[in-house]
Amino acid sequence: MEQTEVIKPETLDDLIKTLHKIFESDFINVEEVQSIMEAYESNPHEWMKFAKFDQYRYTRNLVDEGNDKFNLMILCWGEGHGSSIHDHTDSHCFLKLLQGQLKETLFEWPDQKLQGGMLQKTQQILLENQCAYINDSIGLHRVENVSHTECAVSLHLYSPPFQTCQTFDQRTGHKNSVKMTFWSKFGERTPYETTISQENN
Ligand code: SIN
Repeated sequence: MEQTEVIKPETLDDLIKTLHKIFESDFINVEEVQSIMEAYESNPHEWMKFAKFDQYRYTRNLVDEGNDKFNLMILCWGEGHGSSIHDHTDSHCFLKLLQGQLKETLFEWPDQKLQGGMLQKTQQILLENQCAYINDSIGLHRVENVSHTECAVSLHLYSPPFQTCQTFDQRTGHKNSVKMTFWSKFGERTPYETTISQENN
């Protein structure tokens, strides 16, 4: 296949503009998006205004609605914070590290015949500026900041955007449908009522 040259986005705004262009098309080249997200060199001055932390859980902070084609958000992970094992509602999920490190654990979908117990596939540590990718055909994942001393910040792109996903119990494979909410939107705290049923509460 022909290799497309990746033009390095110089700033976060530049990256967002490029993503808008790419997602005008209905065909998404996963490697291209992954390379462009990876090529952006994280600069905290550019994303600090979106990075809001909570003492007890990771936060989801909406950065851009991508013309309804994608949601771009910044997730802030305090020490020891992690997500539940979850699916991605038939969407693409790109996950780029802006600061710190995160552990991503991949799981197989639960097998009814096995009666619970979810099979772990792989584990990787994502380093600053790396960009991982997952969708439902690859499997399920859980993301954790395993550090006891450092927080982590990640940039997530979901396309198409989704508001609910399924979470899974590792021991039994039982699933729950959960509504996903934003701690802040465009740098502003979202009203309290809309944040109470977050995925990781
Ligand atoms: C993740 O673990 O990939 C984050 C899930 C989310 O979007 O809340």
